[in-house]
Amino acid sequence: MAPSAVTGARGSRFSRGARLSQTFERILGTSPAIQAVKSLLAKIVASPASTVLLCGESGTGKGLMAEEIHAHSDRAGRPFQNITCGALPETLLESELFGHERGAFTDAKRQRKGLLEAADGGTVFLDEIGEVTPALQVKLLRFLEERAFKRIGGSADIRVDVRVIAATNRNLERAVRDGMLREDLYYRLRVLPVRVPPLRERRGDVPQLAGHFVGVYNEAFGKRVRGLNRGARDRLNAHGWPGNVRELKNVIERAMLLSEGDLLTEGDLPASLAHTAAVHQVELPAEGLDLGKLERDLLHQALHRSGGNRSRAARLLGLSRHQIRYRLQKSARAGG
Ligand SMILES: Nc1ncnc2c1ncn2[C@@H]1O[C@H](COP(=O)(O)OP(=O)(O)OP(=O)(O)O)[C@@H](O)[C@H]1O
Ligand SMILES: [Mg+2]
Repeated sequence: MAPSAVTGARGSRFSRGARLSQTFERILGTSPAIQAVKSLLAKIVASPASTVLLCGESGTGKGLMAEEIHAHSDRAGRPFQNITCGALPETLLESELFGHERGAFTDAKRQRKGLLEAADGGTVFLDEIGEVTPALQVKLLRFLEERAFKRIGGSADIRVDVRVIAATNRNLERAVRDGMLREDLYYRLRVLPVRVPPLRERRGDVPQLAGHFVGVYNEAFGKRVRGLNRGARDRLNAHGWPGNVRELKNVIERAMLLSEGDLLTEGDLPASLAHTAAVHQVELPAEGLDLGKLERDLLHQALHRSGGNRSRAARLLGLSRHQIRYRLQKSARAGG
């Protein structure tokens, strides 16, 4: 899908607030968590020069959001340049970013402009910012503070007008504490911090996202799948999604390849999705917890969500019908 092109004279397109948050139409989801992110993005696009820091687990949509910020800002008609800092060795990253003069190093036969110059007037997306080495951190800091830099081997200051969007799936505060990231750079980066929530914090969006990806792969594979059957939907709803939206997209792609009917079924989903229900995200509180009560609560929730249907409730909990019957009896005896 092409980025939503927002047209109009400079300034006139930011017709503020709620309406704008509706316009990030590539960012799907109606959960409170994603709506909150979208309204923050709406404010961010209205301040087109400030640095943005997108923090979130892998696969949560940081790359998509960076594109959307650019596409809805008044820089949209200018270049969007993106670079994955973690993918390049220091010297290469430096010359990609800042460019070099002729003869700056052995292979520098000609002068070459870097990404920052190429993006002039537009946006630079620095992905995996937590991987930048200390020497380059100093140069980036100077650039963020003065919007000026020197090409490698050059002496003239070059000034450009770019918005920097940085992203990371690392905990940058910890990186600062561990001495891996300069504190001054960290504060320069997080002028406008955005926490991109993991998918498990916006489970309500799973059906819409799944439906969207079914459409995407219908088109790509020339299929006519209408959606997911109930068992498959339950599986998706119960899964913990450690790989977030990217994992969901991959799961649907695979299912679409395997599917022979007009609905995706449990059999089309990977076995790893079977009973991995959110278990890994329950953290034992410091003060401990009442396991019996937790079990009763979860049983109630599963029954509620399945409209009282025990087979579906059992599937949500990764139990057999026999096991759930036993646990419900136990829970009733305990007064739950
Ligand atoms: N809210 C969303 N609506 C629609 N598609 C989404 C959404 N969030 C993510 N996606 C899609 O999911 C995939 C993964 O997202 P993306 O690459 O932006 O994640 P990321 O946070 O940048 O991950 P990484 O940290 O691994 O780079 C992409 O194909 C993206 O378009
Ligand atoms: Mg990314």
